[in-house]
Amino acid sequence: MPTEPPTTALLWLPGASSIAPRTDRLFIALVLLCGFVAVAVCVTMVVFCVRYRSGAKVERSAISRKLGLELGWTLLPLALFLVIFVWAAADYVRLYRAPDNALPIDVVAKQWMWKLEHRNGRREINELHVPLGQPVRLVMTSQDAIHSFYVPAFRLKQDVVPGRYTSLWFEATQLGTFQLFCAEYCGSEHAQMLGRIVVMRPAEFAQWLASGTPEPSLAQYGFARFRQLGCSGCHAAGSILHAPALEGLIGRTVHLQDGRSLVADENYVRDSILLPKKDVVAGFDPVMPSFAGQVSEEDIRALVAWLRSTGEARTGVRP
Ligand code: CUA
Repeated sequence: MPTEPPTTALLWLPGASSIAPRTDRLFIALVLLCGFVAVAVCVTMVVFCVRYRSGAKVERSAISRKLGLELGWTLLPLALFLVIFVWAAADYVRLYRAPDNALPIDVVAKQWMWKLEHRNGRREINELHVPLGQPVRLVMTSQDAIHSFYVPAFRLKQDVVPGRYTSLWFEATQLGTFQLFCAEYCGSEHAQMLGRIVVMRPAEFAQWLASGTPEPSLAQYGFARFRQLGCSGCHAAGSILHAPALEGLIGRTVHLQDGRSLVADENYVRDSILLPKKDVVAGFDPVMPSFAGQVSEEDIRALVAWLRSTGEARTGVRP
């Protein structure tokens, strides 16, 4: 029986993900700091209004300069807000760098619903089942307008944009059902673009994932497209035309012809299909034609899913 990790709450809002306590601490610190500054300014204002009111017998000549005081009220707030900056930046980096073993889930937003797909092909609409205590990585894109994936109980919010991938990761720390909202005005039924996240015990989740009508997974479709589109002619091992091998590409560091290097992610794959001249791999000629217009968004997602599946032996992700 796995022990459940501790959970937190901010006033009435449960904190049901591993990132929630960190976000709450930062939020509370910001409220306290800004509240303190606001109260200090208001109190000083009122005190001065009374003390220097018309007719009061007080010293009104300019106060002699006090260097220490001026330096103090300039440097202290600067230091405080720099601390907040470093703190928030650290949390931000943590939020956007998913652990290697995170379970990938595809999210497609459209007017006005959330379509979700697990890696074995199990699909859901407006409902996402996830296991407790296991990192989950959402790879999100939109078919039309800009939407925003928002789960207050997990302290997560991320824009979902057409024409590119955005991603988020979380680890649920509490069993139950949590509300999913669209937080970006996306048309007349934006307010109805709701869903829920169902957090289950890992064993129940595995059972749930295996049940349901089996459909070919996105990765399988991706592999079929890899051959149909002719990608395999150059990229498969032993092909006549020499092109970079793609197995296990996602997450790998790629060195480019112009001396840059980058970590291959979903957007890199997308760009390499549509704009192959943009990031040419070191040691290869820029001979690949663009596939813009020949591949659909679905094809690109499928190719990405297949590429990801080829790297799973490396990262140790299992169904
Ligand atoms: Cu989708 Cu608002």
